Amino acid sequence: MCGIVGYIGVREATPVLLKGLKKLEYRGYDSAGIAVLGGRGLEVCKTKGALKNLEEKVAALLPRADGNPQEARFSGTMGIGHTRWATHGEPSDINSHPHTDISGKIAVVHNGIIENHGKIKEWLSGRGVTFRSETDTEVIAHLINYYYSGDILAAVREALKRLEGSYALGIICENDRDHLIAVRKESPLVIGRGQGENLIASDVPALLEYTREVYYLDDREIAFLSRDSVEFYNEEGERIHKTLSHIDWDAAAAEKGGYEHFMLKEINEQPKALTDTLRPRVIPAGNDGHSLRSVNLAEIGFDSSWAKAGRVVICACGTAWHASMVGKYAFEHFARIPADAEIASEYRYRNPIFDPHDIFIIISQSGETADTLAALRLAKKNGGRIIAITNVVGSTLAREADLVMYTWAGPEIAVASTKAFTTQLMCVYLIALQFGYLRGKLSREELDFYIAALEKIPAQAQAVLTNKETIQRFASLCFNKSKVFFIGRLFDYAVSLESALKLKEISYTHSEAFAAGELKHGPIALADESTLVTALCTQEALFDKMDSNIKEVKARKASTAVITYEDVHHFDQTAGAVFRIPRTPDCFTPMLTVIPCQLYAYYCSVLRGNDPDKPRNLAKSVTVE
Ligand code: AGP
Repeated sequence: MCGIVGYIGVREATPVLLKGLKKLEYRGYDSAGIAVLGGRGLEVCKTKGALKNLEEKVAALLPRADGNPQEARFSGTMGIGHTRWATHGEPSDINSHPHTDISGKIAVVHNGIIENHGKIKEWLSGRGVTFRSETDTEVIAHLINYYYSGDILAAVREALKRLEGSYALGIICENDRDHLIAVRKESPLVIGRGQGENLIASDVPALLEYTREVYYLDDREIAFLSRDSVEFYNEEGERIHKTLSHIDWDAAAAEKGGYEHFMLKEINEQPKALTDTLRPRVIPAGNDGHSLRSVNLAEIGFDSSWAKAGRVVICACGTAWHASMVGKYAFEHFARIPADAEIASEYRYRNPIFDPHDIFIIISQSGETADTLAALRLAKKNGGRIIAITNVVGSTLAREADLVMYTWAGPEIAVASTKAFTTQLMCVYLIALQFGYLRGKLSREELDFYIAALEKIPAQAQAVLTNKETIQRFASLCFNKSKVFFIGRLFDYAVSLESALKLKEISYTHSEAFAAGELKHGPIALADESTLVTALCTQEALFDKMDSNIKEVKARKASTAVITYEDVHHFDQTAGAVFRIPRTPDCFTPMLTVIPCQLYAYYCSVLRGNDPDKPRNLAKSVTVE
């Protein structure tokens, strides 16, 4: 996700900003930029690509040793910087941050999503503002300028009243050389308190060279920094007091937000990732004249061609294929349309049967997986219209698909996919629900009911995460098991597949997933005292079947565990251990049952002495066959 830095003090700001951005590179980005306020006023330099592109671009502009100080560029003691993870608008120089207003005197860097940027852009355009970029962020700079009449803090407060969405902001104004403004709503922002200097950053690593004394901004708070002070205000403009925190992390730990590994950080980021993926696509009750919630998927335009579809084909690899399996069940469940989850490396060579009316959905976190792209190109060559679900704006998949639905998970650094998986599920559920409603298989009231259930998922995922110590203890008992099976039926089978992959790819344990009904067709021959069988049991109509399966493997001396609802005690006498999730419609449980399995895999990996972030033989994106 985007990285923000800001500095006001006595040092040259440019090197401080560039070093700070370097410390935030781990967050993933596709472009970078800085704005410095100095002798030549407000100067902005920004560029697509790696930070070194920016460093080279700025180096060419910095004052020469023998140069006249008046010619010095990017020479000043305050500024802001940004590494961009594209959401609205592809990676490009012009879409990079900082963004300025039409006067060029106000510069803004932003991390988050302004959900009503379209309406604000229209309103400002009607007042003569011309826009240069495709970003949502640019509206912020113009809006502040619109309200500016000499007091930058007052102008920022007025502008904030108009913004909807999530934002961490860094703001400087050429007419106020003594203040830097920081604002937070949902996207993190930290204030570094120095001696004669103060800083802002999206994350602690960018501050540690200058200070370990920090303030954590809370939602809807504004920080007003000068060289010698930091004032805090709430959104009503009242002064508030905040407490300094001392950071005792080392730099490496700080990049992971205090977590030991990126994978654990990303598992814990799932509630926010799910919120960010869902919220822009739900029209709340009361909007558009309806008293019920509805889905806004304009990005993949449900037009009349959808009505002609006779089948949904979902293609992917690895974890994304497991999301496709959930999608298959979801389309059949909600839209009553045949759906196939295709392994891309098989699909591309199988000479599949095409019907151009089919709906093709291609899922890929990276958007660069070779087999997945080959399947996309094959479908496209045969007249298919391609909808992509991906986490990377501007990725090859995003550029070659006809329509794109982004997961707003933020960059996924760990090789093992976690938050990308659950946000992919959120996307396929939304498409399947909307499709079901449009095909008349779901009533308006049913659609509202299911959307309301989806809106509870992020908090429910957070509730599951609070039990991580229980999972950790269980892993300490079982991490040496030589065989681990995950079994389930329907939606639980899809999550069993993903759980087995998680465990094998980072703990190197032999683990497999079976449709529970398949045990008697062979796999049960493997069950013995060295086996752990984890049964996912959330498909209520099949509880008795699952109970029988658990008894079958228990009779062969296998250890057993169950993941089920918090109010279900059907398996308490049968299973060796029970892990619980909050109630949600059976069809949505994958977004919750996968979390204990992710955590189990993570803890087993650590207990086995592996690096869960960089498992052997694996790459984050398999860009070759
Ligand atoms: C999942 O944890 C693995 N990293 C791997 O299976 C991955 O899901 C697969 O390579 C597909 O990657 P993609 O989503 O970027 O296409």
